[in-house]
Amino acid sequence: MQRTEEGQTVRLADYRRTDFVLRGVDMTLKLFEGRTEVLTRLSLERRPGAPANAALELDGDELILESIAVDGAILEPGRYDATPESLSVTGLPETGPFELAIETRIAPEDNTKLMGLYRSNGIWCTQCEAEGFRRITYFLDRPDVLAPYRVRIEADRAAAPVLLSNGNPVESGDLGDGRHFAVWDDPFNKPSYLFAVVAGDLDALRDTFLTMSGRTVELGIYTEKGRARQAAYAMDALKRSMAWDERRFGREYDLDVFNVVAIADFNMGAMENKGLNVFNHKYVLLDPDIATDADYAGVETVIAHEYFHNWTGNRITCRDWFQLCLKEGLTVYRDQEFSADERERTVQRIGSVRRLKAHQFPEDQGPLQHPVRPGEYREINNFYTATVYDKGAEVVRMIATLLGEADFRKGMDLYFERHDGEAATIEDFVACFEQAGAVDLSQFALWYAQAGTPTLTVTEAWDPQERRHTVRLRQSLAPGAARTGTEPMVLPIRFGLVGGNGEERRAEGRVAGGARLDGDLIVLDGREATVTFAGLSDRPYLSVLRDFSAPVTLEHDQAEADRLALARLDRNLFNRWRALDDLLSGGLTRAARRPLGDTAPSLDGAVVDALLASAGDEELDPAFRGQVLTLPGEAEIARQLGEGVDPDRVHAVVEDARAVIGRKGLSTFARLAAAEGSDVPFTPDAASAGRRALANAALAYLAAARNDPAEVAARYRSAGNMTDRIAALAILGHRFPQSDASEEALADFYRRYETDELVLDKWFALQATAPFHDALAAVERLAGHPRFTMRNPNRVRALVGSFAASNQVAFHRPDGAGYRFVAEKLVALDRINPQIAARIATTFRAWRSFEAGRRAKLEETLRQIAETKGLSKDLGDIVDRSLK
Ligand code: PHE
Ligand code: ZN
Repeated sequence: MQRTEEGQTVRLADYRRTDFVLRGVDMTLKLFEGRTEVLTRLSLERRPGAPANAALELDGDELILESIAVDGAILEPGRYDATPESLSVTGLPETGPFELAIETRIAPEDNTKLMGLYRSNGIWCTQCEAEGFRRITYFLDRPDVLAPYRVRIEADRAAAPVLLSNGNPVESGDLGDGRHFAVWDDPFNKPSYLFAVVAGDLDALRDTFLTMSGRTVELGIYTEKGRARQAAYAMDALKRSMAWDERRFGREYDLDVFNVVAIADFNMGAMENKGLNVFNHKYVLLDPDIATDADYAGVETVIAHEYFHNWTGNRITCRDWFQLCLKEGLTVYRDQEFSADERERTVQRIGSVRRLKAHQFPEDQGPLQHPVRPGEYREINNFYTATVYDKGAEVVRMIATLLGEADFRKGMDLYFERHDGEAATIEDFVACFEQAGAVDLSQFALWYAQAGTPTLTVTEAWDPQERRHTVRLRQSLAPGAARTGTEPMVLPIRFGLVGGNGEERRAEGRVAGGARLDGDLIVLDGREATVTFAGLSDRPYLSVLRDFSAPVTLEHDQAEADRLALARLDRNLFNRWRALDDLLSGGLTRAARRPLGDTAPSLDGAVVDALLASAGDEELDPAFRGQVLTLPGEAEIARQLGEGVDPDRVHAVVEDARAVIGRKGLSTFARLAAAEGSDVPFTPDAASAGRRALANAALAYLAAARNDPAEVAARYRSAGNMTDRIAALAILGHRFPQSDASEEALADFYRRYETDELVLDKWFALQATAPFHDALAAVERLAGHPRFTMRNPNRVRALVGSFAASNQVAFHRPDGAGYRFVAEKLVALDRINPQIAARIATTFRAWRSFEAGRRAKLEETLRQIAETKGLSKDLGDIVDRSLK
């Protein structure tokens, strides 16, 4: 049964321009309790060359048309055809400008999808990307229709003293009867998805920024009443982002004001509306008592990301939604570079690569696979994916690697110069780098078109007679669900030859086959090549794919002794980490493949020793050592196993490894855990965060080794900040479930923070991710907790989302009860907020990789969801593609 007809698929190949050109938008929104009236005036003109009789076709979504007029004359019913989803107008002027005025009436109070205009804790706010504007008014709701906007907002002054929209404020005043208005003018051409309005009783934190050309920009971060001081770190991150974009990319801010609004109910992280970013309040509000170091880093990243969109996304936008990676991949690349510059580059890179492997690789290797630039979609909301964002960023990073810093910057400058004010394509973007670097990137562009993770196979041979080291490289790409091509791609492979004392060896390299050598870069563009290094005194260690210079699966038949040497010696710290990580995941996957009851240890003694040596090495950055101690996740081990996965077995193997490491490193861990006591005052900088990460990782190993909750409970009680408190609570809840210590701490945590929604999310998520079968019972109970609601996306993600995505043991209970619970919640959620339901449903996508029992239950659950009557396009698309 196929619910969605073929006709609903949108294809890149079908792109064509609109028949009408939009010159300007003038809107009035009258906000009342229970209803909003929207009057939209569009200045339009038939495009030269467009058919003289072509109708104007506007998009709508659940709209009610109140009136329609052309150049001031109300239209007769025969001239137009209106449904909630469309408005078609005929008989419009063949040439010359005309004005179309449309009145619609909407009910933001009933809008639970959180797309279009809705209310969040009484605040009126909008979310228009990708296709939310059509829920406010009939419109040419597509990113290649750009216009300046003038927006007038009217509201009750007491309910909404603050009235915000895009651009600069131009007018405000009183309307009598307790009502008032404000007018905003955005002179920059923009597509409708960047439109925003916010109205409510908000507090603000204010500051200013002096741009590089000497203009003063008024900055405001708006929050719910009484929380403005929790926006201080976000404000600091914003100013650093503005300065960084000037320094690194020469990009200056362009309006007189820049506002950010923190909203409690939000489908995504944040939104880059022109001059008026709207944020999930999780990415704005912080203080040491409610937020962890990870939260601080998240705020910094998201603030930077949305700010950077002002140039990569807003000044230059996307021609159509197939080009989404043009703004998202590029902007993720920019925010990653910002964090690398502001924090510590290697540690940031390790984090990005972990994230890529945890989210993008499984997507690229399963049924939801799609290229970085998809060729078709049924629901665009389902394409805000790790592939578009994170692999999209990797593709930009590879361009930077291939061109080098100077030419990459030249290419970016050219892009800004050539396409400012336009809706561009990936071809436009790539062409700028071809010109700047005087290179042909046509083969490279396959990264945008071919889905899947390429495998890079590396073998080595040392010739002691000739003192030559030969490296053979091969690439392959397996056909996948997206059915795109499998041609060889361009792989930039950074490498080094490491000597016995860690020194970088220099050797003459000769290439045979499909590659070229450029300093420390091998560019493999054929299916295979060999590189021979001559004149070496003894065999070097090959450190390959440094900094993860291409997003591939590396199969390197390197001896364990070589990996151990690199884990100790490599000057490239990223690869030093990766050497250990490969040893760990290799050991853990091998152990997970062994039959149940096989009691051989999961990890070699030498690997454990190497891990402990790095963790205890005071010369190394604590944040790096914290990364070293973070074992590959259970989902990552499952992905590497690829088939027949038994999550209980994987969990047991990882737990065993943790205990083994903990016991062997007892004295190191005791020292590290004690190093960061509660007397150290909290500062959110990366160095302090790194020290806390190391100490808390050590505490977790101590608990695994000693199996004693008392010491962790003491740590919970004495914690001086949320990072340490939640770290101790997680150990209690996950390692000592249902113990008195754990129950007491969970109850204490609830009492302490029950008034703070963001901290309550942590409380829900922590219990939802406890790795034991009975956690399901707790999750079911929590779903009935008075503070649980399906209306708040953060809360649903905290309970249902994190259970499905991060509780490998309980979600995958062999009896299928975890699957049934999630399916039932998703079907209910789908009626409220389909976008969130669809997102959480992607946790079913790996169903084919499990052992027969779970696999059958997963498939059955997916089929049951698929057969539900009245399923949304969002959820239907995900389950249908997952089953294909
Ligand atoms: N464009 C936003 C970002 O990545 C994400 C987003 C997409 C937000 C769709 C809301 C809706 O910055
Ligand atoms: Zn973005």
